Amino acid sequence: MDPLRNPFAPGAGSRPPELAGRETIISEARTALGRIIAGRSAQSQILLGLRGTGKTVLLNEIENIAEDEDYLTSLIEAPEDKTLAELLYPQMRQVLRKLSTIEGARTAVNAALSALRNFASVFKISVGEIEIGVEPTPGYADSGDLEFDVTEMFELIGKAARTAGRGWALFIDEVQYLKEKELAAIIVAVHRINQKSLPVVVFAAGLPQMAQLSGDTKSYSERLFTYPSVGALDAVAARDAIRNPLHKEDVEITDEALARIVEKTEGYPFFIQEWGHHAWNVAEKSPITLEDVERASVRALERLDRGFFKVRMDRLTNAEILYVNGMARLGRGPYKSTDVANMLGKKPTSLGPTRASIIQKGMIYSPSYGTVDFTVPLFDDFLRRRSGF
Ligand SMILES: Nc1ncnc2c1ncn2[C@@H]1O[C@H](COP(=O)(O)OP(=O)(O)OP(=O)(O)O)[C@@H](O)[C@H]1O
Ligand SMILES: [Mg+2]
Repeated sequence: MDPLRNPFAPGAGSRPPELAGRETIISEARTALGRIIAGRSAQSQILLGLRGTGKTVLLNEIENIAEDEDYLTSLIEAPEDKTLAELLYPQMRQVLRKLSTIEGARTAVNAALSALRNFASVFKISVGEIEIGVEPTPGYADSGDLEFDVTEMFELIGKAARTAGRGWALFIDEVQYLKEKELAAIIVAVHRINQKSLPVVVFAAGLPQMAQLSGDTKSYSERLFTYPSVGALDAVAARDAIRNPLHKEDVEITDEALARIVEKTEGYPFFIQEWGHHAWNVAEKSPITLEDVERASVRALERLDRGFFKVRMDRLTNAEILYVNGMARLGRGPYKSTDVANMLGKKPTSLGPTRASIIQKGMIYSPSYGTVDFTVPLFDDFLRRRSGF
């Protein structure tokens, strides 16, 4: 059918035509936003899920809701090679610049801007011309202790926002790449703004494997955050994700064709978009049939093998490839690390560093002690296809 009218949206962070199966997460986020801007307490959220399950899409969706609710919003994506201070600085600056235009907020904004100037200098961030004119006030956000200074900045921004009758919603994607002390700084800062009922809220998203927190930070994090899990869609939601966008285009799909897509994709949102996209393109006319889906499956797998799966594979060293192949040879995960070692004829301890570096790259994670699994759904199938075992 006409590719110009194809409604499906495979791609990182692309808004799907139907955001299926996420009603609870969205309504909880909406409630939290509504409560926090009204000065009531609510938990911040950390969405956890595998690759391609729709975390970024959800953060964007919640960001839109926040904007409608009068929040200023900031979105950062934690990369592997930048510090949290570097990422936060321009966002905090932008929020304060926006607040500075609001009548009555000027004094609180200036206090926060001058602290931000200290923050930049103590964390050695190069600043733009605007801040040069701002007088630094010693004693604010200049300790060089990230936890302390981030907390102080959040508090000052929260006060400025409250004076302006606004809120600040901070979104952090790929949160698993934050260092332990960076995540701890965010959590301690959220703890503080909660105590003070300031209108600041954090929504983060990342892989299930996050930095291990310890001590006080751990106990705060359990109380201050909820951890909604963003997984595969159940069969009902998966069918909606395909059928509803088709209906909007006046296209039908047979029940068996739909069932086949659900089976092939196992309900993973990224794969649903990919299969929907190809099924549309190969079908000559409505309704889309089982035969169309079979042809679409061949194309979808080809494209995944050359794209989604391959880019991830290309990031691994030879030793790491041997390790993941060892996992795939064992069938479906999760895998015991000792079984992977046995499969490769090695001692588990000798594979420790390889395992750790693949985890560091976000390709595998440890769902429980002594086990590993892929962060990319169906990656084991790909490895078996690729190597013919
Ligand atoms: N609820 C949903 N229903 C249908 N499709 C969805 C849903 N959520 C996301 N998608 C689709 O899934 C794909 C992946 O979404 P997204 O990039 O948000 O995943 P992610 O979890 O952030 O992945 P990664 O961990 O790789 O960053 C996109 O093509 C998106 O359109
Ligand atoms: Mg994402």
